[in-house]
Amino acid sequence: MHSTLLQLRQQFPAPIDLAKLGQQLRKEHSSQEAIWLLQQLDMYWDALRLQAFRDPLPLWYEAQALQMGSRWPLAERRAQKMQQRFPTGLLVEIGAGIGGDSLELARLHQLRSCEKDDLRLQCLTHNLQSFPQVDVREGDGLTHLGGAASLYADPARRNAHGRQWHNLDPDPSQLWKLGLPSCLKLSPGLDESTLPPDCDIDYVSHQGVCKEAVVWLPGSGQVSAWLYQDGHWLTSPRRQPPPVGRLEPSMWIHEPDPAAIRAQAWEPQGGWRVDESLALLASPPGLTSDWAQSFEVLEIGDSDLKSLVKLQVKYDFQPLEIKKRGFDVEPEVLRKKLPKGKSGGPGVIWLTRLEGRHRALICRRLDHR
Ligand SMILES: C[S@@+](CC[C@H](N)C(=O)[O-])C[C@H]1O[C@@H](n2cnc3c(N)ncnc32)[C@H](O)[C@@H]1O
Repeated sequence: MHSTLLQLRQQFPAPIDLAKLGQQLRKEHSSQEAIWLLQQLDMYWDALRLQAFRDPLPLWYEAQALQMGSRWPLAERRAQKMQQRFPTGLLVEIGAGIGGDSLELARLHQLRSCEKDDLRLQCLTHNLQSFPQVDVREGDGLTHLGGAASLYADPARRNAHGRQWHNLDPDPSQLWKLGLPSCLKLSPGLDESTLPPDCDIDYVSHQGVCKEAVVWLPGSGQVSAWLYQDGHWLTSPRRQPPPVGRLEPSMWIHEPDPAAIRAQAWEPQGGWRVDESLALLASPPGLTSDWAQSFEVLEIGDSDLKSLVKLQVKYDFQPLEIKKRGFDVEPEVLRKKLPKGKSGGPGVIWLTRLEGRHRALICRRLDHR
């Protein structure tokens, strides 16, 4: 069956009509086998799209674990940092899923990977075949800690709403109590005040989304942003916020990457804040940064509907991009109320606050990234 799966993945590297393929497969396979092949093929296409694994072709997937799993460049960075922080001894991974992290950790660490879900464990065991030295264990990882020098966990949410540690599986507060050097991958929306004192935190973004907060213990209270771009990592530490200053037409505004916002890295450096409560930065023209999307400000106007209609008539933007920060508006609802542009070219209406006052910024996007 596995060799049939490999052939199918090689033959169909991009999505095709699964119903048709299913009919063909049922001629040579039982229905159960055909369903397994189709599901594994479908999840392989998802894995490719998500950049979930370095080499996704031979792997077995389970749907929920694939969605929750680490993207491989992020898993690789974490494994390398773990090697620097925990260079010797046995690393125990509690809750390995189908191996998104295990496959990167296995390259660099003496590793024991534990998973309590039967189906995911089957996938994990298969996926780690090329690393026979990894000690794969079934069941609660907390009962497999013998000999551990350090631990790693990527807890799953127990339910969609929970925001407390006990809503995570495994519960991070139970892991920190063990007192082992540890690395935990948590949601970037975490409340830093609930973390153990002096831990270090990396906020990490991928494909424009802040994907994870990686929490290190022991640490020294360092917080930084990490951004993966064109195969390289950029990093920037937490800084004091820059002063609030004026924004005028012809200046540039910068919307920082979400990891830089979460880490309060205040990138690009050299900019100033346009409002006390916002992460949007302003600068003279010419300040470019890999950390931000930047816009040239053409005009600053009032943000009531009548004024916005007038501005869109004047600039005639097509396509029109509507962005907001610190402004309660639904861009798609507003768009329907504005005249459709024809020949003004692409443009952006930014709805935000400048020094406490709601304003509309008429902008052009600058493409330096
Ligand atoms: C978010 S997933 C891990 C994903 C994995 N890091 C990856 O990148 O593929 C969390 C996993 O932890 C497992 N788990 C939770 N508590 C556990 C425990 N105490 N022992 C073993 N596995 C556990 C869950 O079954 C789930 O598969």
